[in-house]
Amino acid sequence: MLAIDAVGVTKKYKGSRMLALSDISLKVESGKVFTLLGRNGAGKTTFVRICATQLTPSSGTIKVLGHDILQNASEIRNLVSIVPQEGRPLRALTPWDHVYNWLKIRGEGSSSAREKTEDILRKLELYEARNRPAMNLSGGMKQKILVAMAMATKAQLLFLDEPTIGLDPVSRRQVWSAIKQWKSNGGSILLTTHYMDEAEILSDYIVIIDKGKIVAEGTIQELRRIIPQNMRVDVSKDGLDVNSLSSYGSVVDTGGGMLRVFTFESAARELSELAIRHNVSFTVSPVTLDDVFVHLIGQTIDKGDTNGVGQNERN
Ligand SMILES: Nc1ncnc2c1ncn2[C@@H]1O[C@H](COP(=O)(O)OP(=O)(O)OP(=O)(O)O)[C@@H](O)[C@H]1O
Ligand SMILES: [Mg+2]
Repeated sequence: MLAIDAVGVTKKYKGSRMLALSDISLKVESGKVFTLLGRNGAGKTTFVRICATQLTPSSGTIKVLGHDILQNASEIRNLVSIVPQEGRPLRALTPWDHVYNWLKIRGEGSSSAREKTEDILRKLELYEARNRPAMNLSGGMKQKILVAMAMATKAQLLFLDEPTIGLDPVSRRQVWSAIKQWKSNGGSILLTTHYMDEAEILSDYIVIIDKGKIVAEGTIQELRRIIPQNMRVDVSKDGLDVNSLSSYGSVVDTGGGMLRVFTFESAARELSELAIRHNVSFTVSPVTLDDVFVHLIGQTIDKGDTNGVGQNERN
């Protein structure tokens, strides 16, 4: 069964002229991490909230775990769990109170609720702080309380709307590991994030939306192929001039004193040799999701194409 089956979903907020979502159709397979990417205002949260039965669409149909969001909202609510984008824990309650009480509300028995609360608080390194009121915790710890609440449940589908925002690199990895474990237990996840490394590490399938419309979708490998030049070489700006670099591929100034050349493997090798001969520092890597995102979305903002990808091909 599909975790989410959305067909022709459109959303227009009251009083707004623009469509927040326009004819979105997508299928989220069970047991997978499905990621929505898009700039601020693209429509990600709107889609998540519609699937979580917090908002209704203007048109289109969505089935969540086989249930229609309009006809069976209460069944769906028992089967899903959400980390909302703008959620905040209650100031006076502790991490333990939040998770334990949430599990009890969702029908868990006391001893199992205690066990699960302890387990998730330890996993997310909140256990030491379990009895401190949320108002005395840091921003990242508050965010982790929300993640802990959602991930302690035995929901089948988890909605994670920017779950790692504001988290330090170690805490992010704790959440990633909890997400992977959730998936290995057969759970499904709809994720949104602005962190491309996070999307690359976690996603089985990605949909990129812009201004309410799907602009690209696929696995990481499929999305990477959108940029024909599959390699990028970052070269220090001091050593080689742009003109000599542009004969190898499209050149972008990444800031921070580096120029990035998008190119093919053989030209990347030639360019590396050139950099070595001139004693210029450089790094070579395959194109990343970040490059693909800028390539796709950057072009819709600026037809002048500041990112340069896709023009100069050499092999
Ligand atoms: N309650 C609302 N009333 C009117 N318009 C809204 C409302 N919520 C969102 N919008 C509009 O809908 C569009 C999509 O917003 P949404 O919050 O879904 O974007 P998002 O992709 O989640 O962005 P972000 O990455 O910033 O979280 C935006 O143009 C936004 O201004
Ligand atoms: Mg959002």
